[in-house]
Amino acid sequence: MTDNLLHIHPVFDRMLGRAAKEEKLRQHAAVFWLTGLSGSGKSTLAIALENALFELGYLTQILDGDNIRSGINNNLGFSEDDRRENIRRIAEVARLFVQCGVITINSFVSPTRAMRQQAREIIGDDFYEIYVNAPLEVCEERDVKGLYKKARRGEIPNFTGIHQPYEAPTHPDLEINTAQQDLQTSLHLLLEFVLPIIRKKTQ
Ligand code: ADX
Repeated sequence: MTDNLLHIHPVFDRMLGRAAKEEKLRQHAAVFWLTGLSGSGKSTLAIALENALFELGYLTQILDGDNIRSGINNNLGFSEDDRRENIRRIAEVARLFVQCGVITINSFVSPTRAMRQQAREIIGDDFYEIYVNAPLEVCEERDVKGLYKKARRGEIPNFTGIHQPYEAPTHPDLEINTAQQDLQTSLHLLLEFVLPIIRKKTQ
């Protein structure tokens, strides 16, 4: 088996770049950065998008609080400095995935324009800002994790939308209004945006 492999590929010292990996995966990598208030529907949309793309044969990776704040960023809290560092590291991780040809779906509050600008600068042209828009009242009403209630009671400091502002994107690449439309419609809009970007040009 190994002999055979060596016979077919006598040279194992070439650096495999992004282009070769994208070719293998038959996809164009990009980072779809979902920003919005806690409870706006970012993670729900990220999961729906990943499932839809998986069915269509694409390889993706979701980055969100579950796999980032519990691991690589488990030493960071929610102060301004920590959030900036959170976003910086996430952008660097996303950049590595893109170099590997993988479509990356990021789901983070990323509350300030400066933080998202920093992510855009790290990732470059493959960064797409998607504003998952739901009014604070709606997010608070949903209160999926019960965090808004706790924040109102003063049990969580620095909560975005309560004690700290959320700076909505002024020119997002795409805006999804989850308070006005159902998940099916939101996913449809998202797919219409994403598919032309990730389709390999040669396909
Ligand atoms: S970010 O501001 O640094 O981008 P991130 O998206 O990683 O935030 O984490 C936000 C999630 O952490 C929220 O959805 C919520 O579940 C939880 N959380 C805990 N404390 C806070 C807080 N003070 N502000 C916002 N979200 C918080």
